[in-house]
Amino acid sequence: MSENLKGKKILLGISGSIAAYKAASLTRLFIKAGAEVKVIMTPASTSFISPLTLSTLSKNPVWSEVSSEGSWNNHVDLGLWADVMIIAPATAATLAKLANGICDNMLVAVYLSARCPVFFAPAMDVDMWHHPTTQQNVKRLLSYENKLIPVEVGELASGLSGEGRMAEPETIITITNQYFDKGKLAGKRILITAGPTLEALDPVRFLGNRSSGKMGIAIAEAAAHRGATVDLVLGPTHLRPYHSNVNLHKVESADEMYTKALEIFDSCDAAVLAAAVADYKPETRADHKIKKSGDHLTISFVRTPDIAAHLGKRKKDQIIVGFAMETKDEKDNALVKMEKKNMDFIVLNSLNEKGAGFQHDTNKVSFIFRDKTMKDFSLKLKTEVAEDILDELLKKLP
Ligand code: C5P
Repeated sequence: MSENLKGKKILLGISGSIAAYKAASLTRLFIKAGAEVKVIMTPASTSFISPLTLSTLSKNPVWSEVSSEGSWNNHVDLGLWADVMIIAPATAATLAKLANGICDNMLVAVYLSARCPVFFAPAMDVDMWHHPTTQQNVKRLLSYENKLIPVEVGELASGLSGEGRMAEPETIITITNQYFDKGKLAGKRILITAGPTLEALDPVRFLGNRSSGKMGIAIAEAAAHRGATVDLVLGPTHLRPYHSNVNLHKVESADEMYTKALEIFDSCDAAVLAAAVADYKPETRADHKIKKSGDHLTISFVRTPDIAAHLGKRKKDQIIVGFAMETKDEKDNALVKMEKKNMDFIVLNSLNEKGAGFQHDTNKVSFIFRDKTMKDFSLKLKTEVAEDILDELLKKLP
């Protein structure tokens, strides 16, 4: 899983967040994967985790001051040494300093001297993360070609819940590994559909589903990290991709998703159809808000276009990967779907597993192939499932 990290030089920057405790397992995972790790800490982070822990795990000294005991620590050398710099956790204060070049500690000095790519994994409270100042700093850092390791949604140290959790060490390892893997999809263009679709009943109401778009966005990010140009046709969700190789096309309804996907498909090498597309839409969309009258309301529905089936008919030498979510006769139903829609393989989501499916960060899937063989996977992070899907796709691409 992390074979590309062997022999790589990793500079790990740690700033002062409670998530700093995760830096210990992150360091250990890098070392286990055969990488060399040097750690730089902001002074604030040393209250959350001891430099001794990190120097023991990294088998290297830990730097936190530009000068110590009368001698100067060479941030330029460290910046030049690294193959990649990873700032995890990156606090709101550190993001602000990095974005504005406020060089008042060793971590920012090394960042400014580094010639290697820099990834940052923010960690903060939900409101701090959503604050326009933080978002502006993130945008600025991205515009300087730094790479964001997206925050995760969940319980936060404050007791609140929402976006702002630092990515898990396993995810950071996966993303770094993907980075060194890049090139394998270079020159390829991949269409990805993701998220739900919303079908309007009137100007204020709609019918939708619980898809968050997480799985499709993870595939888009992973493919972009591997060097592909990605066109992500994304239904309504608050989540978004960050990689600059991802062209984002936001749509709302199944019809809009169909039109956009069709427009892009012919120039693509592959399509991964992860969207939860509505099968039916209201026959008419009322021009004005539907007024209540009587005890019942009857709405007539008509079929939406089946994007996968249309692309399957149209395909020349493209590879199409679909998704299936079944509640009974899972394998048989998924097989029929794959054949009917002319897909190359289908990813079957398990609905029986805790932690799998809609909204979760994890998923449990099986791949089903045209020759009726099956490959089962354990419950994994969606970022890891995305890797497995791309590994399989790579085998099929000419
Ligand atoms: O038929 P079903 O909806 O279960 O098929 C699931 C697969 O087909 C998924 O890959 C989904 O993205 C795709 N699909 C589609 N357009 C639709 C319905 C499903 O592309 N209208």
